[in-house]
Amino acid sequence: MASLTSKHKFHTPNSVCTRTHQVGALALVVATFFVTRIFDQSFNSCNYPYREVKRSFVDNGGSISWPDRGYGFDLFLKIYVYDEREIDGLKELMRGRNGKITPESCLKGQWGTQVKIHRLLLQSKFRTLEKEKADLFFVPSYVKCVRMMGGLNDKEINQTYVKVLSQMPYFRRSGGRDHVFVFPSGAGAHLFRSWATFLNRSIILTPEGDRTDKRDTSAFNTWKDIIIPGNIDDGMTKHGATLVQPLPLSKRKYLANYLGRAQGKVGRLQLIELAKKFPDKLESPELKLSGPDKLGRTEYFQHLRNAKFCLAPRGESSWTLRFYESFFVECVPVILSDQVELPFQNVIDYTEISIKWPSTRIGQLLEYLESIPDEDIVEMIARGKLVRCLWVYASETEPCSATLGILWELQRKVRKFHQSAETFWLHNRSIVNRNLEEFHSWKPPMPLP
Ligand SMILES: *[C@@H]1O[C@H](CO)[C@@H](O)[C@H](O)[C@H]1NC(C)=O
Ligand SMILES: *[C@@H]1O[C@H](CO)[C@@H](O)[C@H](O)[C@H]1NC(C)=O
Ligand SMILES: *[C@@H]1O[C@H](CO)[C@@H](O)[C@H](O)[C@H]1NC(C)=O
Repeated sequence: MASLTSKHKFHTPNSVCTRTHQVGALALVVATFFVTRIFDQSFNSCNYPYREVKRSFVDNGGSISWPDRGYGFDLFLKIYVYDEREIDGLKELMRGRNGKITPESCLKGQWGTQVKIHRLLLQSKFRTLEKEKADLFFVPSYVKCVRMMGGLNDKEINQTYVKVLSQMPYFRRSGGRDHVFVFPSGAGAHLFRSWATFLNRSIILTPEGDRTDKRDTSAFNTWKDIIIPGNIDDGMTKHGATLVQPLPLSKRKYLANYLGRAQGKVGRLQLIELAKKFPDKLESPELKLSGPDKLGRTEYFQHLRNAKFCLAPRGESSWTLRFYESFFVECVPVILSDQVELPFQNVIDYTEISIKWPSTRIGQLLEYLESIPDEDIVEMIARGKLVRCLWVYASETEPCSATLGILWELQRKVRKFHQSAETFWLHNRSIVNRNLEEFHSWKPPMPLP
């Protein structure tokens, strides 16, 4: 619990610590005892005082501090959100080619983050309506949902994204470096086929850190992109009454469960086999996407809460919503997905709240889980309760949410200067393109990438 609840102390670069001190350091070599002492004190002032960082999220009595370096002391950033009426093609990416798909229908399910993040930014106090003042630019798109509902096919999605980007002089100015996109599913940015040509410098928000099983390249880049939590059913994350309440540990029927479709995946099939061998330890029925074997929403969580450990094996891709859901029925998530990337690693130590087990050792898993004392399980669950607010797409006015987590991560990407290989500047601070045309007269369609 210590590292989640204690306030961390940080080194702050002290403005008194300047070049004079470096010069002073040389002078010390020949200086007298007195001088030495004076410099000594001022050198110490380069390291002291430590600043107590107060920017912490508080939930259920715990607190999580955002690290200091590179993030600033306060959230302070300006995000411009493109409007569907402003950019030709954006409407199609949000509502399909006929404009018939409603945002409400795209809000539900594990991929609802594409809509939720857009809505939260529209209401955000960090939103700016002036592009000239923006640090970052958010490009809304509900394209995962639109594609699922037949609103656009892959080819149209690709072409529409390219059209949209060509309408944006600011995208051209930075080569996309200050533009933010959400890709909410396992495909990540691959939803946009030519992402590698057009979005390879942009900031991508995605729950998926890996897609190397089906493609040669992963669209996720640890240093540029941001892992976001999947969208958990609102009925489980709301304050007060939840759809299904957690059970006391002693009342849980199973040691572990896995409730999902096998999808022909080795790890999942192994779990289903294991459950046949140890039916009173592991609940892992072979679930179906539809038909009588499909679990309803409430039923699903009622099963999920009935074990101490909730297994989260890799499926079509490496991230799984089950990992996040586990925290709301209060079972300990056990990740069986070697390539997984997890959100907010700068504030969460995942060893405190979860287990990651090699997917190549599933045969020994139950034996290991059985060896873990209940006290340890209780502690892990308690620590998980302190951080789970970071999985919830709540208003930024809440003390802790995925929204705030994402804003802090975005803040680290803010740069004062926006440029690309096709951006130039003159003595009078005019930004121009290769033809020396000034930025304000760059007219779409812009050349890309
Ligand atoms: C995506 O669209 C662009 C512009 O129409 C095109 O040049 C590119 O080849 C397309 N990519 C794929 C993979 O089809
Ligand atoms: C991004 O795409 C451009 C255009 O295809 C390419 O020139 C560049 O090398 C790519 N950058 C990275 C980091 O992949
Ligand atoms: C900056 O300098 C260029 C080249 O001399 C000139 O064409 C342009 O009008 C100037 N821009 C401003 C805003 O003064």
